[in-house]
Amino acid sequence: MAKDVLILAFESSCDETSVAVVKNGREVLSNIIATQIKSHQRFGGVVPEVASRHHVQQIIHCTDLALKQAQVAYEDLAAVAVTYGPGLVGSLLIGLMGAKAISWAHDLPLIGVNHLAGHIYAANLVTPIKYPAMALVVSGGHTELVRVSAPGDFVILGDTRDDAVGEAFDKVGRMLGVNYPAGKTIDQWAQIGQDTFNFPRAMLEEDNLDFSFSGIKSAVINTIHHADQIGQTLNKKDIAASFQADVIDILVTKTKWALEKYPAQQLIVAGGVAANSGLRQRLQQEFAQQLEVVFPPLRLCGDNAAMIGAFAYIKYQKHQFATLNLNADPSLDFDYETLE
Ligand code: KG4
Ligand code: ZN
Repeated sequence: MAKDVLILAFESSCDETSVAVVKNGREVLSNIIATQIKSHQRFGGVVPEVASRHHVQQIIHCTDLALKQAQVAYEDLAAVAVTYGPGLVGSLLIGLMGAKAISWAHDLPLIGVNHLAGHIYAANLVTPIKYPAMALVVSGGHTELVRVSAPGDFVILGDTRDDAVGEAFDKVGRMLGVNYPAGKTIDQWAQIGQDTFNFPRAMLEEDNLDFSFSGIKSAVINTIHHADQIGQTLNKKDIAASFQADVIDILVTKTKWALEKYPAQQLIVAGGVAANSGLRQRLQQEFAQQLEVVFPPLRLCGDNAAMIGAFAYIKYQKHQFATLNLNADPSLDFDYETLE
């Protein structure tokens, strides 16, 4: 029997320091996540310098804990993996330094992982990915439709032209007095409120798979300002429900178009916004009869190192190793393809 491949994985692209041990790309032996949300909340968003400092403080502790919880020693490892982009450069560098130091000291191959590939391969920790797959990546920094035609073969079909969907949730939340990150609360309010405002469905008149969320965000903000000026009190729950219905309609419609053009065996929903209950429900309703819809569990939707270990296994099998010169690439991306 082939020996199990144990990968020690690092994720530090934004405001979570995470270290995990993943077996054969499918089994999470440990997944330590140190979140910094409290430190950034008072600023209403992630402050890069603050994030880097936290990563420095947390990374060694998280590494020790990940190995201990997995009951794995350095000698048992097959490789070390790390997110090298996209993300905040200072934050990425801390993970890279940690991974490189271990790779060098223990003579282990180093694997550089694209953060988005990690989000998509979180699905592999739930059920084996079936190819071709379609991935809807929705997070605080990304909104993308990605076709995965074979292991590790990604093509972006649609992207956001401005704000990412999670960013829009956070900005609208801020206007409604909700602490960062606001997605979860907006989601809870949306379940109580009604879609009474009917905000414009942006980009649905255009024949492409791109997204735009800044117009919707502005429409919500204008509605709130206007009500303030005329002394009217708006029902925040209805605003949340109207905003969320709008966003979900756009995400679902563009996913439908993508699947019509590129049929797939699986739809993978990835990233922090994949936690959204309304989105989960609508995507199931629309697509579950046609193909398998995979939502990673909530703890694997947000940033975590287990997803990095899951994708690193694909690169390990292909012997796609990095040298110690691997650098952070804050705007690392996949290839693009335009819908004709
Ligand atoms: O993937 P993630 O943890 O970090 C990034 O790589 O961006 O995503 C964080 C984003 C935040 O914008 C947060 O507000 C949003 O995910 N989020 C949600 C929900 N839970 C988290 N958005 C909508 N509904 C939710 N239930
Ligand atoms: Zn992320």
